[in-house]
Amino acid sequence: MKRILLVFGTRPEAIKMCPLVKEFQKHPEEFETLVCVSGQHREMLDQVLQIFGVKPDYDLNIMKQGQDLYDVTARVLTGMRDVLDEVKPDVVLVHGDTTTSMAAALAAFYRQIPVGHVEAGLRTHNLLSPWPEELNRQVTGRIATYDFSPTPLSRQNLLDEGVPEERIAVTGNTVIDALHWVVENVLKKGYQPKDPSVASLLQDDNCHSGQSGESKRMVLITGHRRENFGEGFISMCRAIRDLAENYPEVDFVYPMHLNPNVRKPIREVFGAHPAKNLHFIEPLDYLDFVFLMEKSYLVLTDSGGIQEEAPGLGKPVLVMRDTTERPEAVEAGTVKLVGTDHDLIVRETSRLLDDRAYYETMSHAVNPYGDGKACPRIVEKLK
Ligand code: UD1
Ligand code: UDP
Repeated sequence: MKRILLVFGTRPEAIKMCPLVKEFQKHPEEFETLVCVSGQHREMLDQVLQIFGVKPDYDLNIMKQGQDLYDVTARVLTGMRDVLDEVKPDVVLVHGDTTTSMAAALAAFYRQIPVGHVEAGLRTHNLLSPWPEELNRQVTGRIATYDFSPTPLSRQNLLDEGVPEERIAVTGNTVIDALHWVVENVLKKGYQPKDPSVASLLQDDNCHSGQSGESKRMVLITGHRRENFGEGFISMCRAIRDLAENYPEVDFVYPMHLNPNVRKPIREVFGAHPAKNLHFIEPLDYLDFVFLMEKSYLVLTDSGGIQEEAPGLGKPVLVMRDTTERPEAVEAGTVKLVGTDHDLIVRETSRLLDDRAYYETMSHAVNPYGDGKACPRIVEKLK
């Protein structure tokens, strides 16, 4: 019997790690499965834990309003010391590129406990973009004994860095496992969204994917990257404001991240009374968000996870970043980088809204990030 400790702390990590927790729990003879959350996110993490029915064994509960990278790193590192001493796991599993993942991997390394890195090998090769995630994932990769790469390209990135071949398994991304679960078990069973703002948007039948060209179309927006704070965010917001003015018949729906650095520029640019077709709403739980993504016409985002999910649903994605560690969907033609430049965001979004033939070229469903079986592959490999 091996004791596995899965550690995560933010919304996207939880979405990608909860299906893996569930998969380990199917093998009680081989694995004792324990979960530690850092609580780097609080409300947005708890939303996901609740949906997947995962009850953490340990909760470091570190989140503070306006926390900085020093706060998160230090609190996770020292918090994990005590958890590791009590649990004494055989393996610690962390995910991706957050500061929780990097600091938890470092904590395990200090106790010489092997680390498995889920979503290993993504790279932009630019330490400042995304910041600090590119360094977080490189540090975590350097520490890891087991690398679970989502795609052949991410495996190749690790090989190029000298990681021995036998340490790496190409598994697909666990986010596709989560997405398949939602589509098959929730959306296809006539799911009705819980969030009142989503329900009211749909009530007037005023937004859907626009495939028939009759009802209102919806542009779904998210943004939260640290390197975009300040000028980049203001520029993104102005582009959204101008698009909403140019396309009064289109709904622009923005579930806002809880980070105050995201909300401040939104308030500054849009004021108290944004245009009628602009909908700033609270962060949605994962089920409502996937529901809305499925109804949307296109997605404007700087998110990592949404770049993986939306192509699977056949939704064109314009990425408001200068770099991406996920070039697979760009190569497949459904994702395009537009940075934070006002004119480029307006031009590319307008082209998708105006030019049906062009829209069709970007809206075919592709799944470069997996087939929904990443979790069983990871468990098999660890066996
Ligand atoms: C973090 C990750 C980022 C990931 C993102 C996903 C790091 C350095 N950043 O960034 O890689 O893409 O999560 O969303 O690891 N807040 C709340 N409640 C919540 C969540 C956040 O109030 O449930 C507010 C708090 O004021 C908090 C702030 O948001 O201090 C920032 O949270 P933090 O986790 O530090 O940064 P994110 O931008 O969310
Ligand atoms: N998401 C969600 N509710 C929202 C916005 C996003 O559940 O209101 C989900 C989305 O489906 C994706 C993940 O959160 O799986 C992405 O999280 P985020 O953009 O915060 O982080 P990143 O992926 O950039 O690290």
